[in-house]
Amino acid sequence: MYQLSPSILAADFAVLGEQLSQVEAAGADMVHIDVMDGQFVPRISYGMPVIESIRSVTKLPFDVHLMVAEPYRFIEDFRACGADLITVHAEACTHLHSTVTKIKRCGMKAGVALNPATPVEFLRHIIGEVDMVLVMTVNPGFGGQKFIPGMLKKPGRVMELAKEEGVFCPDIQVDGGITLENIGEILKAGANNIVAGTSVFSGDIKKNISGFKEAFKNAVK
Ligand code: DX5
Ligand code: ZN
Repeated sequence: MYQLSPSILAADFAVLGEQLSQVEAAGADMVHIDVMDGQFVPRISYGMPVIESIRSVTKLPFDVHLMVAEPYRFIEDFRACGADLITVHAEACTHLHSTVTKIKRCGMKAGVALNPATPVEFLRHIIGEVDMVLVMTVNPGFGGQKFIPGMLKKPGRVMELAKEEGVFCPDIQVDGGITLENIGEILKAGANNIVAGTSVFSGDIKKNISGFKEAFKNAVK
């Protein structure tokens, strides 16, 4: 029921392939890949060639988080290099509905991310079309930031909105500042897909992932 999507932004790129194998062996459910364009967010991270080269290292689905202005332009390219799920930012798409439709037409799952200041209400007329809502729990652009506690209200709002619109509730992903200390309250708030970068890749990857899996088990009880 709960899924863990480790963010490779916090990985050691000199040994990225090895770390991906470790993450898979430790029981991660997917791989979160943060693509930043230096325009929608201040930093540039990595793009298609890196994704393409790690595609053969793991069988885990690739969860690609595009922090990119007008991502509509790149949907086919990310499909071609191995994305299984693409999340675009509501704030970065002039035509969000077309972008979501295109992702699905290309054979992938579609997610929509909301910056901390963007209300869940923004998704009212397309919530039935999206497979996942990504609730940003930090402002996008950097790993290792502090979780914004006010965001804990948003997963509940996503569920209410789906109910109001009479559609199935999409998966609810949370991303930014998630640790073994705050994971309990985050699961309680209703998120079911957890992105974690720093708290997976710093120190012992296997032990860190076991910690998250344990929290998932406790939340189900
Ligand atoms: C932030 C990225 C996150 C980031 C999370 O812009 O979207 O995925 O890598 O990193 P941590 O878990 O370190 O906050
Ligand atoms: Zn991310």
